[in-house]
Amino acid sequence: MIPQDGGIISPLDVNYFYFTPEWHIRDGQNGLITADNFNDLYTNPRARLLSVGAGPALLEETLVDLGIQPQQIHVADLDLTHTPSTFSNRYEFDMWQPWPQLSTKFDVIIFPESASSLSIFPFQDRVGKMIQLALQATSVLTDDGEIRMNGVQLIEGQAEEISQALSQTGIQFAYNPSGLVIITRIQ
Ligand SMILES: C[S@@+](CC[C@H](N)C(=O)[O-])C[C@H]1O[C@@H](n2cnc3c(N)ncnc32)[C@H](O)[C@@H]1O
Repeated sequence: MIPQDGGIISPLDVNYFYFTPEWHIRDGQNGLITADNFNDLYTNPRARLLSVGAGPALLEETLVDLGIQPQQIHVADLDLTHTPSTFSNRYEFDMWQPWPQLSTKFDVIIFPESASSLSIFPFQDRVGKMIQLALQATSVLTDDGEIRMNGVQLIEGQAEEISQALSQTGIQFAYNPSGLVIITRIQ
């Protein structure tokens, strides 16, 4: 792997960039995972995190180093070849297609620089694809759980359209132009 500026890593054998744990937390409350998310998982061993598009799971392995139990973290990717065997709960699927049946509800679901793959779709399909992704992820979210994505690029109007459609189903969709998406149920 070739480290690049600011926490981005260029693997030699795959087409994706990978990211250091520091990259994902660099924006504090506006980062992929916050101190509150960490504390919820740390203080409650029954709490579960799902990482979709985990890749080499550098962030997820750091969470384990910091005291989260490996069985609390479930990992998913289109291709799990590069995902370490630290994590025995692992699922291979395409996030943009119907998800397989997952028998767990998750307190936190993260998409670490992976929902940026929205950009492979034609512009006119992106709102629908993001709504579909949010609905599928929310179906395996606990009632007061939180979904967080970083690296998502939406242009003016798209976030509002997604937010309005999801609010009809009781889901709150918040987008920060830094690329952060936060999805929760409307309480
Ligand atoms: C930019 S890499 C980020 C990897 C890792 N999360 C990180 O932060 O370093 C994007 C990851 O998302 C995965 N991915 C891309 N499209 C996907 C899809 N449609 N469904 C599931 N995973 C996908 C890739 O295989 C890759 O591991």
